[in-house]
Amino acid sequence: MWELNRLFSVDQIRQSFLDFFAERSSQIEPSASLIPVDPSILFTIAGMVPFKKMFLGLENKGYTRAASCQRCIRTNDLDNVGRTARHHTFFEMLGNFSFGDYFKPDAIRWGWEFITEVMKIDPARLWITIYTDDDEAYRIWKDEVGVSPGRIVRLGEEDNFWRMGETGPCGPCSEILIDLGEDRGCGKPTCAVGCDCDRFLELWNLVFTQYDCRADGMLSPLPMRNIDTGLGLERLASVIQGKDNNYEIDNILPIIEYTARLSNIRYKQDEASDVAWKVIADHVRAATFLISDGVFPANEGRGYVLRRLIRRAIQNGRKLGLKNLFLFQLVGVVVDLMKRAYPELVEKREHISQVVKSEEERFSETLEIGSAKVTELLDSLRAKNIDTIPGIEAFKLYDTYGFPLDLTREIAHDEDFKIDVAGFEQALAEQKTRARGATGFSHEEAENPEIYGTILTEIGPTEFLGYDNGSCRARLLRILHDNKEVSRLTEGQEGVLLLDRSPFYAESGGQRGDSGSLRGADSQVLITDVHKYGGGLFLHLGKVTHGIIDAGMDLTAEVDAGHRQATAVNHTATHLLQAALRKVLGNHIKQSGSLVTATRLRFDFTHPAALHERELKKVEELVNEWIRADSEVNVSETSYDEAVKSGALAFFGEKYDQVVRSVSVGEVSTELCGGTHCRRSGEIGLFKITSESGIAAGIRRIEGLAGYPAWQKSVEEEKILHGVSGLLGVSVHDLEEKVAKLLKEIKQKDKLLEELATRQALSAAGDLLDRVKPVNEVKCLMTIVEGVNAKQLRSVVDDLKNRLGSGLVLLFAPRDEGVAIVLGVTKDLTGRLNAGKLIAAAAQVLGGRGGGRPDFAQAGGKDKTKIPQAMEAVEELIKQS
Ligand code: SER
Repeated sequence: MWELNRLFSVDQIRQSFLDFFAERSSQIEPSASLIPVDPSILFTIAGMVPFKKMFLGLENKGYTRAASCQRCIRTNDLDNVGRTARHHTFFEMLGNFSFGDYFKPDAIRWGWEFITEVMKIDPARLWITIYTDDDEAYRIWKDEVGVSPGRIVRLGEEDNFWRMGETGPCGPCSEILIDLGEDRGCGKPTCAVGCDCDRFLELWNLVFTQYDCRADGMLSPLPMRNIDTGLGLERLASVIQGKDNNYEIDNILPIIEYTARLSNIRYKQDEASDVAWKVIADHVRAATFLISDGVFPANEGRGYVLRRLIRRAIQNGRKLGLKNLFLFQLVGVVVDLMKRAYPELVEKREHISQVVKSEEERFSETLEIGSAKVTELLDSLRAKNIDTIPGIEAFKLYDTYGFPLDLTREIAHDEDFKIDVAGFEQALAEQKTRARGATGFSHEEAENPEIYGTILTEIGPTEFLGYDNGSCRARLLRILHDNKEVSRLTEGQEGVLLLDRSPFYAESGGQRGDSGSLRGADSQVLITDVHKYGGGLFLHLGKVTHGIIDAGMDLTAEVDAGHRQATAVNHTATHLLQAALRKVLGNHIKQSGSLVTATRLRFDFTHPAALHERELKKVEELVNEWIRADSEVNVSETSYDEAVKSGALAFFGEKYDQVVRSVSVGEVSTELCGGTHCRRSGEIGLFKITSESGIAAGIRRIEGLAGYPAWQKSVEEEKILHGVSGLLGVSVHDLEEKVAKLLKEIKQKDKLLEELATRQALSAAGDLLDRVKPVNEVKCLMTIVEGVNAKQLRSVVDDLKNRLGSGLVLLFAPRDEGVAIVLGVTKDLTGRLNAGKLIAAAAQVLGGRGGGRPDFAQAGGKDKTKIPQAMEAVEELIKQS
């Protein structure tokens, strides 16, 4: 038996790998974020991802050799996680890279040396694979390393040609595998290197990155020959530590052990629950790192992956009897296990566990509320005799309550309902279209983008003078009317006007365009809005209020200063709002959208939970404090990198030019921003938050008012308060108490009324007893009752059953639409008569559905005219009983 080196912890293995390559002149790069800069992939899936541009020869970081331990997420094998010894969504990849520097001989020799000499894995257990026709690699392994030819296996494209994605760097590869022994294999006679089972474990993939795969699938040779290698840290550690599965290495097993302490089931008690342990351990590692890298649970993109991982972990927890919130507690365990390699986790510990916790709470609530809503929905469908959940209803459950389609489907299935999945998909698609429509393309642009494209190439972008000037002389270059170019506009006509230069701010970055006027000697145009086309052409939307304007004439363009100032005040207030949110809630707050107008502002940002009343108050207070501090607003231009380095907030997902404008308010806020602002924060005067809401999972929206509208609102509210206090005859101060008292009184009266109505219904029911007639020796009371609500109907049935002592009560209560049916059977008869079955027969005659217990059932029907037939149907069944 070969000897294992059991001394290495995961931390030590990681470090010895990096040291090994540092000794070979490699730059040691820290792990990049799980969110790649590269938009072609969702997550960092390999160590080479942060180096993509280096491989393509598009970037030079000043070195040609590097090594790293990269955190990665892969979700393509999600269903295998937990079922095999080695699948993960989150894992760490050790890798060494050469950018036109060393190539196959060194990559191969060093790989072998690290595995056999540093990790001390017995060479007799190692196998090598190479790409079908890679004779060069074959020769190096055989002649320079001394691997026996019988241990070198040639494999095809699928196994030994590595691609980053559909496009990007790729090349043939060679792998080092370890034979874990026959007892770990599938036992099939065909089992050999390349078999999918656990016996031959691929340890290290050496990719000879020579090509760039283009969008058309063609491989174009890269300017230089590169090396990209990937060595799975978890699998290497499992071999070194002598574990037969990756989940038992020293930086994962403690997660399972901790979870086991919360559950009554032991790890390794049975196979099904073993899968659950591993899924939880894997997913909580992934969630911890994803949140640390700025992802929030959401319904699409990365956030959706995170949400799915957290929810899968929770569902697996339920299999282990973990019904209470548990996952968030594991975050601390992960942080402690990983903090030496990722010290940044320590300061984010609280935040990460908070995000997980709120998603856990949300999911439990979702399950509870959603299940109740589905039951309600099924009841009402049943009453209408519909057996398919309409797509729009399933969508509402998903959209309003976050209840996953899968779960709706499960409940529907149990209750014998079908579900219109196509309708659901359509509603989902429609919502997406609506969401896109809300992103703010102006009608003009949307209607006729080509014409502006042509004009932009002809006249070039509009020169913007508006940061420093409220007015300027400008030449009117083009006029458009009804999307067509015209040479003039006359009084009363509307159009889009294009100038060579403009003081008007054109809508962008969430800030609405300026308004104002264009004036000639005998003419005037009122500008109501300004949009931007293609990043640089200003479209002035206006109406001629006086005279005639001709293309080519010179005009005075003047911005409405009051409107501009009111917008500026809202914009500066929005910056302060963002700064206050970060201060109160934490630095995870990132802008995800905004709207700034002259009358209101809106700010969307990432945050996992609704804001608490006191958090909102604190935010509002802080903004007002900063307003009163009357700090100077400073604008400077600098390079993007400089600005971000010095702490300016950049809007995630936005493209910035190399030279950016940085706007700061005193010491409290610095943001990259192209908008217009006031000169001092004091000009804002007053800031009020008017609402806080969620607009998507993990995204909150605050709406607010700044400046005059904020004051105006408080005046209006004061007026309403005084009006109400006059009506109620108390002072504003006593208003709250008075309203609370009134509400209490109303509630008591409602209760009294309800009691009276029930009493009345019951006394009327007493008269019904005359209508009892025996059917097959059963005292039966079948009748129509009017003006009784569902709750009373139930009491009436109970009351009548009591009075009958033994018998059956069947009541029909016609409604505006359809009819409610209840049926009660006294306990002594339930052996013979089943209320649920009898009511189903009645409901069927009336074109409805229903069911219930043997002694009480309710249903809904459609056709009131068939009540006598429904009674007969029930009678018939009683006769047969
Ligand atoms: N990029 C290759 C892989 O992921 C080697 O690092 O396997």
